[in-house]
Amino acid sequence: MATGNEEINIGLMGLGTVGGGVAASLVENAEAIKRKTGRTVQLRRALVRDISRHRDPEPPDGLLTTNPEDILADPAIDIVVEVMGGDTPAGEYLERALVAGKHVVTANKEVMARRGPALLALAQERRVNLLFEASAGGGIPIVGCLMSQLLANDIRSVRSIINGTTNYILTRMARQQAPFADALSEAQSLGYAEADPTNDVEGIDAAYKLSVLGSLAFHRAIPHQSIYTEGISRLAPEDFRYAAELGYAIKSLAIAAAQPDGAVCARVHPVLVPEDHLLAKVDGVYNAVEVTGDLCGQIILHGQGAGRDATTSAVMGDLLNIVRGLGNTGGPPPLPQPNDTGRHGVADSDVQPIGELSSAYYMRLTCADQAGVLAQIARILGDGNISIATVIQKDTDPGGGTAQLVITSYPSREADVQTALAAVAKLDVVVSVNNLIRIEE
Ligand SMILES: NC(=O)c1ccc[n+]([C@@H]2O[C@H](COP(=O)([O-])OP(=O)(O)OC[C@H]3O[C@@H](n4cnc5c(N)ncnc54)[C@H](OP(=O)(O)O)[C@@H]3O)[C@@H](O)[C@H]2O)c1
Repeated sequence: MATGNEEINIGLMGLGTVGGGVAASLVENAEAIKRKTGRTVQLRRALVRDISRHRDPEPPDGLLTTNPEDILADPAIDIVVEVMGGDTPAGEYLERALVAGKHVVTANKEVMARRGPALLALAQERRVNLLFEASAGGGIPIVGCLMSQLLANDIRSVRSIINGTTNYILTRMARQQAPFADALSEAQSLGYAEADPTNDVEGIDAAYKLSVLGSLAFHRAIPHQSIYTEGISRLAPEDFRYAAELGYAIKSLAIAAAQPDGAVCARVHPVLVPEDHLLAKVDGVYNAVEVTGDLCGQIILHGQGAGRDATTSAVMGDLLNIVRGLGNTGGPPPLPQPNDTGRHGVADSDVQPIGELSSAYYMRLTCADQAGVLAQIARILGDGNISIATVIQKDTDPGGGTAQLVITSYPSREADVQTALAAVAKLDVVVSVNNLIRIEE
C-alpha cells in the first residue's frame, strides 16, 4: 500500500455511466489531481461484466477484466471504487476490499442501506476509509455535510426529494395534468425512468437513500425495511389541481424526523407541500435535501441527484479526499449498530410506526351528489378525533349523480384517520375513497 510519494493505484469496479465518468476524470484531470493532492493517481484495473462490449473511448489494453481477483487480490491497488450497483456481488467485494486493507469509495445506496453499519465498522477496524457521498443525492454533497460540517447539530429533521425519476413524473403530472401512466412513459422515453420503474415509483430507491441519510443524521441505524414507503402511482391529475387550489404542490418526500419520545419517524410518500416552500419549487429530475438542526437552523441543498458528471463529482471528491489523507488517517467513525442506545435512552432502532404519525391530511372522495352527505362523513371523522380544516366539492357529474369531495384535516393521528376513512368508505353515499395524502406544513 502506498504511503509516501509513490503512485496511488485505483481499482474501478464498474465502467458504466458513473465508472466511465470516473475513468475519464482520472485520465483527463491527471495534472489537476496531482496539483490538488500532491500524488499521481493511476487507474490500474477496471472490472466489467462483458469485456467484448463496445466502449467509447476504447479502454487501453490490459485495463479491463472480468475477474474481481485482479482488483481484490492485487496488493498494488490502494483504493477500490465500486460503481457496479446492486447488493450482490458488490457488497461481498467491498467487504473483501476492506479486509484486504484497501480504502473504498462507493456510489451504491443499496449496499450502504443494507450493509452500511457492518462495512463501516469493518473499515474502522482495518483503519481504512469507506466513503459513500454518491450513494444519496448524487452530486449534492449531503453525506459529507451530515458526517462532518453539521456534526455539532442535534438534527431535528431531514426532508428530501431524492429520486429524480419520481420528481420528473410528478412535475409532468402537475404541469400538463397528465395521468401517471403517460408521465411515466414520457420519462422512460427520455431515459429518466428504467424499463422496470418499480424501485423508483414505489419509493424503494428513496428508502435506501433515506436509510443512509437518516442513519447519519440521527446516529443510529435506520434499516431501510423499517421505513414506511408509499409510491406515486395512485396520484391522479385532479389531485394536483385540487392541491394547487388549496395552495400546495405534490411532491414525493423522503423524511426522517426526531420525535419527542426519542424515536425517529422515517417515511417516503407523496406529500402536499405549501407552494411557497423551496421544496415545492424543485422540479424535473432535480433533487433537494432540507436539513433542520438546532444550531444551523434550516439548510437546503439543491442540485443534480444523478447523471454521469454530477455523480462523478461526488465519487471523485471522496477519492481525492482519501488520496490527500493517505498515510495519516484512519477510517471514519462507524454508524452505530442497531442495538446502540441514543441520547434519549431509547433503543436506537426505534423507528416510529406510521400509525403514530401526527399529520394534517388531504382526502379525496367520490360521493353521491345529494344533501346530507357531508354531515354523515363529518360525524365519522369527528367521532375519530379528526377535525376538518377545509371542504371543497368539485366536478359534479350530473349524469352519474356523483361529486368529488376534497377534505383537509388539522393534524391528527394517522391510525385514527385510517380507521375513520375505512368507516367512511362503507357509507352508502360514498362511492370511493380515492386518495389520502399527508400535508407537510
Ligand atoms: N447513474 C447515475 O446517475 C447514478 C447516480 C448516483 C448513484 N449511482 C450508483 O452508481 C452505481 C453505478 O451506476 P451506473 O448508472 O454507472 O450503472 P451502469 O451504467 O449499469 O454500470 C454498471 C457497470 O458495472 C459493471 N457490472 C455490473 N455488474 C457486474 C458484475 N456482477 N461483475 C462485473 N461488473 C459488473 C457493468 O459491466 P458492463 O459494462 O460489462 O455491463 C458496468 O460497467 C450504482 O450503485 C448506482 O446506484 C448512479
